[in-house]
Amino acid sequence: MSPLAWDLGHIAAFEDLWVSREAGGELLREDLATVYDAFETPRADRGDLRFLRHDELPDYLEAVRDRTRRAFDDVSPFIAEMLIQHEHQHNETMLQTLQLAEPGVYSPELRPAPGTAPPGARLVEADSFELGDAGDGFAYDNERPRHSVELPAFRIDRAPVTNGAFAEFVADGGYARRELWSGEGWAQRESEGWERPLYWTAEGGVRRFDRVLALEPELPVMHVCFYEAEAFARWRGARLPSEAEWERAALDEDDAHGRLEQLDFGPGPAGPFVGDCWEWTATEFDGYPGFRPHPYPEYSQVFFRSGFRVLRGASWATRARVARRTFRNWDRPQRRQIFAGFRCAEDP
Ligand SMILES: [Fe+2]
Repeated sequence: MSPLAWDLGHIAAFEDLWVSREAGGELLREDLATVYDAFETPRADRGDLRFLRHDELPDYLEAVRDRTRRAFDDVSPFIAEMLIQHEHQHNETMLQTLQLAEPGVYSPELRPAPGTAPPGARLVEADSFELGDAGDGFAYDNERPRHSVELPAFRIDRAPVTNGAFAEFVADGGYARRELWSGEGWAQRESEGWERPLYWTAEGGVRRFDRVLALEPELPVMHVCFYEAEAFARWRGARLPSEAEWERAALDEDDAHGRLEQLDFGPGPAGPFVGDCWEWTATEFDGYPGFRPHPYPEYSQVFFRSGFRVLRGASWATRARVARRTFRNWDRPQRRQIFAGFRCAEDP
């Protein structure tokens, strides 16, 4: 993860860059352009950079925002929305860092999440549907172009896999049974010594920020990587859905979101397609047919066909403005600190 202060400065530097481009002016701080460029500075090196700290940081944020207010009429609606979405996406990244921190660092008030997860799976009949953004609001380049996809019938869980179900997999020796894991997944499991999801304790608790709580069986399991999701699905005699199956199934659900907006500091009972937790899919991240980068290839194109897996939905740590059924998130298959779980699919 990046230092929190780097994330904050990067949000401002990204805004500085795009607003100065749009308004035709100079960067406010040319000297910071490289420090806050995500491509020039790999995450592993960011702790050693000379990024702004202490009073300098809020001063810079305020100066950038001031200039944005003054130049706002020159900023196109797409770029303005992109800057907001970018800031919100980094807010979620910062919450991942805070959850990763040692106890005692960050102590939010957690809200309880009553309710039950709907059981079972439902059948989606064979169908052709339009995958991707319909073009009536903001969308990233990777959500376009919308195109027709033919899907055979499939069954998909009504809710993401719960803590309760995942605990059965753990108790059944799921982390010790080689046959349930892919070759890459098993190698990763062995080298990292994984025995349960990140933040679960050997005593049956789960750490959320600074405290260890009893595991709540109705909540979606989170902080499992793609490989763990895959192994669970195999154990259950199921598989992960493709991202097209996920989006097709989400179309049948009303748009009621789970617990978004970051203020509950945890998910609600497993259920909604968008909200509570991100969901791993079986699909490798790639461009849709006819993809064109916009407004810059470094947002998504440079990640295509490099082993990243698509995640769909949104988590409790996602701002509602970012959450939509066509949104495509992606990450490395071994990544566990993101607020991600999964649901299973099956052939009928
Ligand atoms: Fe960024």
